Amino acid sequence: IDREKKVLPLKGKKALITAGPTREPIDPVRYLSNHSSGKQGFAIAAALAELGAEVTLISGPVHLPCPIGVNRIDIETAEEMMGAVQDALPSDVFISVAAVADWRPAECASLKVKKDKQTDGPPPLMLIENPDILKTVSHMEQGRPELVIGFAAETNDVVENARAKRLRKECDWIVANDVSGDVMGGDHNVMILVTADTETEWPRLDKQAAARKLAAKISEALTGH
Ligand code: CTP
Ligand code: CA
Repeated sequence: IDREKKVLPLKGKKALITAGPTREPIDPVRYLSNHSSGKQGFAIAAALAELGAEVTLISGPVHLPCPIGVNRIDIETAEEMMGAVQDALPSDVFISVAAVADWRPAECASLKVKKDKQTDGPPPLMLIENPDILKTVSHMEQGRPELVIGFAAETNDVVENARAKRLRKECDWIVANDVSGDVMGGDHNVMILVTADTETEWPRLDKQAAARKLAAKISEALTGH
């Protein structure tokens, strides 16, 4: 049993992860989205599964295979992601890696919007706010995961923005990501782990190695090893 604890420290623990972009429809053929590849979230799911956790990965549209031993649920919109997260809870740790679209079109046209039907130039695009999944989970009064982790993709004032975001979202940890370079869609990442009382910057690592660093920290926090 001691040996198993060393090799599979997260055995018996549940991890819930969101990854990838969301896709918000404008009409049956058009959508709003972003450049998230899902690579970092998938790598974190794989790393936690390797440590023995029971992993559920809720993913937006990405071009990635499901990591071994991971239960993957595919969704498209932020609202679907919110629903899938609620269905998948409870969990010991929630890691919000997805690049959730902040806004969605107020209405989705049921038929393709046609150019020749526009009399006053391009059609206006009204947006409304999407649910904040991380904030919703952080604020749960019952059954909140023991550890709630957000990601902060920032192009400037990375640590300051991440600290403010951690407090705003009321999550336990924020992983700050400098996305001013080739991070989005790329294979490497520079991560800074911001907790209530610590800031740890990891060197530029490939996304698998960065994921294993984070998984080790999660394991330490949940199990003491
Ligand atoms: N997030 C979420 N639901 C949203 C928006 C964001 O769960 N509707 C999560 C992301 O998965 C990430 C964290 O919140 O873990 C921070 O996302 P980010 O886009 O950096 O923060 P925002 O509060 O949306 O602020 P902004 O985009 O203006 O920087
Ligand atoms: Ca955002």
